[in-house]
Amino acid sequence: MFGRNVRREILEWQMPDFSPRRPSASTTTAIAAALVLTVTAGLAMRWALAGRVPMVWDFTRLRHAHAHLAYYGLLIPLVWLGWRSRGLPVPSSRVALVYASAVVLALIGFLRAGYAPEAIVGSTAVGIVWLWTAWRLWPRLGVWRDPMGTVPLGMTAAMACVPFVARTTRLAPSQAQEWVATFLSALLLLVVLPSALGVLRVVRPWPALVVSGVLGALALGVWSHPLSQLGLAAFGALMLPVGWPRHPAHLRLAWAALGLGVLGMAIGLLPNSRPVVIGAVHFAALSVALPSLAPLVGLPVDSRWWWVHHAAVALLCAPVVLQAFGAGAWTWGAAAWGGSVVWVEVVIGLVWLAFHRKEPC
Ligand code: HEM
Repeated sequence: MFGRNVRREILEWQMPDFSPRRPSASTTTAIAAALVLTVTAGLAMRWALAGRVPMVWDFTRLRHAHAHLAYYGLLIPLVWLGWRSRGLPVPSSRVALVYASAVVLALIGFLRAGYAPEAIVGSTAVGIVWLWTAWRLWPRLGVWRDPMGTVPLGMTAAMACVPFVARTTRLAPSQAQEWVATFLSALLLLVVLPSALGVLRVVRPWPALVVSGVLGALALGVWSHPLSQLGLAAFGALMLPVGWPRHPAHLRLAWAALGLGVLGMAIGLLPNSRPVVIGAVHFAALSVALPSLAPLVGLPVDSRWWWVHHAAVALLCAPVVLQAFGAGAWTWGAAAWGGSVVWVEVVIGLVWLAFHRKEPC
């Protein structure tokens, strides 16, 4: 039925290839540093929210720094490694250096004064690099079943939220929060998750991902409407690991939980409230994106350690989600203990990586 080339391409699509071409030591170190700082800031906030330690830094500024570093320094650089593993263009080392400086500048700004001038300048540079790199993937638009075809339009859609965030921040803070939720959801749904699917060689039509992802991001933020909920449901269905027999069981379970969770939010089984969104973002980043992309820096894809990681993430996220169902004060302490287990197992994973990392070929 299929020609030989098409058959070979389909076979290749189904086999994730965590190529032996490892990133340079400086790239791996920068990503590892971003991970440790993100998780440490998260842990400090978790214990402060549990009321067990005083918050030594302004909470809102630390939260800004934490969330931005997670995307700027960890998730998007891992996504770039994913593009590289598929032979797609990524920033040159010079651009990467400018990018890293912009991230550090933005981080200092967020910590010093929230949306301070340094944070705005650094974030603008980050945004320009994101858009420029995303649009270099435009030839993937010609391969309709490649999930990475989602990236150019998805990144543009996410960045289109930024002026709305800027406009509403002072005038209507609650509306600004909704725009931030749409922006972060768009990055996750339209850039990070499709790139992870592409790395895993999963076939998903990008037009379906773009339409459902845009509607889904709107549903999670500024536009709760039956149509946007329908889009979110379709996006959840597209995440389900149907027809992935070759992938490790821990990955299939994580993607299944993501797909079902998103479907649950779309049909109202899980309320679209802040605890659920916080739990979902952390689950998607830590239990889905990280195990799908981290093998690109040399972590084994099928290690039993990933089960420990998923269990730790569940301990962090489940108590937070339960807050949406009226669960009591114990959830704050439980989430802090869960976050502590995540911190310990992440650090153990990075120490393992430092000793077992192979040099780039
Ligand atoms: C790659 C991993 C992570 C990503 C992508 C991530 C992302 C985020 C995002 C987007 C927010 C919401 C920011 C906002 O609404 O302004 C957030 C908040 C938060 N994160 Fe993380 N995070 C990560 C890891 C962690 C870890 C491991 C912990 C705990 C140990 C943690 C604890 C927190 C806390 C306590 C908040 C504030 C919640 C609140 O305001 O109610 N995060 N994070």
